Amino acid sequence: MRIVVLVSGTGSNLQAVIDAVKSGELDVEIAAVGADREGTYGVERSSEAGLETFVVNFNSFPTRDEWDAALTAKVASYAPDVVVSSGFMRIVSADFIDAFDGKYLNTHPALLPAFPGAHGVRDAMAYGVKVTGCTVHWADAGVDTGPIIAQEAVAIEPGDTEDTLHERIKVVERRLLVSTLAALAA
Ligand code: GRF
Repeated sequence: MRIVVLVSGTGSNLQAVIDAVKSGELDVEIAAVGADREGTYGVERSSEAGLETFVVNFNSFPTRDEWDAALTAKVASYAPDVVVSSGFMRIVSADFIDAFDGKYLNTHPALLPAFPGAHGVRDAMAYGVKVTGCTVHWADAGVDTGPIIAQEAVAIEPGDTEDTLHERIKVVERRLLVSTLAALAA
């Protein structure tokens, strides 16, 4: 199974996938890692691992549609079986979703359909829920919508901040992403 991983941030989920491939726990080929901006730690991790790495910089395109078309073409050039949005903080167009229909996997740091969007951890805390978690799902054209593949709960502890809670969620999220990819590859 060939995958392309898309990142925007620190890429700790990406690192978990890289480590699992290296250790032999995960039998997938990382065809490429792509980002929507320059200079992120995720891109650095990918280059350090010797992976094919590309940036389709959102800010270099006059319109969202042109950026989206460039991203779609670039990802398609690797002919991936699965495209993983791993902390990729851009909404992609319906055309992108069509191009990778049923192949676009997203991870989200909340128990969807609760708390979709860019601030899933913050919003769960603000609501006052006692349990949140993470979700791995097939993405459709909505924001954090589409068929759910796997979820795991994480308790919110007294004294948690958005950062401490997100770090605990990410520990679980990495494991869930790797095990989901392993199941898909099998
Ligand atoms: C993850 O929690 C992801 O679900 C969220 O952003 C975080 C990405 O972390 N949207 P990293 O870049 O993999 O470290």
